[in-house]
Amino acid sequence: MHNDIQEILISEEEIQNKIRELGAELSKRYEGRNPLVICVLKGAFIFMADLVKTITVPLELDFMAVSSYGDSTKSSGVVKIIKDLDQSVEGRDVLIVEDIIDSGLTLSHLIELLKNRNASSVTVVTLFDKPARRTVNLEADFTGFTLPDAFVVGYGLDYSERYRNLPFIGILKPEIYTN
Ligand code: PRP
Ligand code: MN
Ligand code: MG
Repeated sequence: MHNDIQEILISEEEIQNKIRELGAELSKRYEGRNPLVICVLKGAFIFMADLVKTITVPLELDFMAVSSYGDSTKSSGVVKIIKDLDQSVEGRDVLIVEDIIDSGLTLSHLIELLKNRNASSVTVVTLFDKPARRTVNLEADFTGFTLPDAFVVGYGLDYSERYRNLPFIGILKPEIYTN
């Protein structure tokens, strides 16, 4: 375990098992189709990589970088597009891959954007959800784990850009972010 981690909340094995389940469900959902799978950078990069290996239908990938948090632990409410998609979503079945839904602001902006660009369907899969923190009414179509309102890091989730590489979800020691 990492020095700055107080407790492991979800183990690497639990995460990988859940991803296989999600991949099986998504493979069914998209049977006979060719979805465009969109990774919301940076947080979703590890989930994206593990998830697409478990999806059996032919698919294409694209990446978008958005940020609402910057280096702070609180959402600014502003969603900034840092890198846009390379390809058109028009007429495509789009699957948005997120690591976590918190306030819901990032995803509600993104869903709106992709619908305005005439995607034929927009579906959301998130590995983690913190429903207690929602400020907009939004639910993912597929969710891995529901998390308590604790400061968690790992498996893509950062604090000040660190800890994304941890293969598990851990609770950060309070002394790391309170001073
Ligand atoms: C985090 C997380 C989600 C978003 C969720 O991204 O990866 O994308 O916040 O929060 P919300 O539901 O309140 O919008 P962040 O903006 O920190 O960028 P990052 O993915 O690069 O860490
Ligand atoms: Mn993110
Ligand atoms: Mg972040």
